[in-house]
Amino acid sequence: MRHLMSPLDFTPKELDQLFDLANDIERSPSKYAHACDGKILATCFYEPSTRTRLSFESAMIRLGGRVIGFSDAASSSASKGESVSDTIRIISCYADICAMRHPKEGAPMVAAEKSGIPVINAGDGGHQHPTQTLTDLLTIRSLKGSLGNFTIGLCGDLKFGRTVHSLINALVRYDNIRFLFISPEELKCPDYITEMLREKGISYSEVIRLEDVMPELDLLYMTRVQKERFFNEEDYIRLKDFYILDTAKMELAGRDMLVLHPLPRVNEISVEVDADPRAAYFRQAQYGVYVRMALILTLLESV
Ligand code: CP
Repeated sequence: MRHLMSPLDFTPKELDQLFDLANDIERSPSKYAHACDGKILATCFYEPSTRTRLSFESAMIRLGGRVIGFSDAASSSASKGESVSDTIRIISCYADICAMRHPKEGAPMVAAEKSGIPVINAGDGGHQHPTQTLTDLLTIRSLKGSLGNFTIGLCGDLKFGRTVHSLINALVRYDNIRFLFISPEELKCPDYITEMLREKGISYSEVIRLEDVMPELDLLYMTRVQKERFFNEEDYIRLKDFYILDTAKMELAGRDMLVLHPLPRVNEISVEVDADPRAAYFRQAQYGVYVRMALILTLLESV
């Protein structure tokens, strides 16, 4: 039985197979409409979510399966002190597969160790968000044609943004990718990531001004400043609007550059940018459903 804790749990070849399946689901959804008849997905979300939880639920329903779960720790027995280990033992009696989001790093891993069903990490603290990474990789592969040979700018909260950490870890396995980290000093990429890049001999630069690097980018991955992970309100208020991508900045970029964002956005992308054909973040959210359908199918086959 397989779980998904990190995007690295799949080899690049397995990821290619997963993305081929996701693209086939996109082309021919009716072929898969009964693939999970009789199966149940549990969504156990101890932290807020719109996209991840609802796209998982949509994915299972589109596969013919059904969904149970909770969207808030307060409405589960975690509020009475139940451990994640006990909860997953119970969920294993009720469902065939579980997607779990938790504020504590490693909590889905603890669940997986005690689980009788596949567990998918749907985001654990500031650590990893593997299904967002699968969504990002599928979006890049589908819209750019391949997963190599590009310069990607990652902009905003690179310190607390788990989507950024997961994506960098996944991209280092592909050829000829150059990373530009765009952040204020206080929100720089963690040292363990830049050390890993140096060890692997992968090119990266750290800059503060987004304007300076716009012309060099093939992809711009914008992120929200993660209010919920700040230790004090003052720092958040000072940094939250540090970057605002607007049409003036988009004019500095190439014609084929694409803007991605895991969403939700706050102010970091002006709504005026949404009409630009290079704004790919809503298409990215749609790819999230196809890749989660492919993932559910793949993990259920492993049982
Ligand atoms: N991208 C993402 O994880 O969004 P949600 O927090 O709404 O699930």
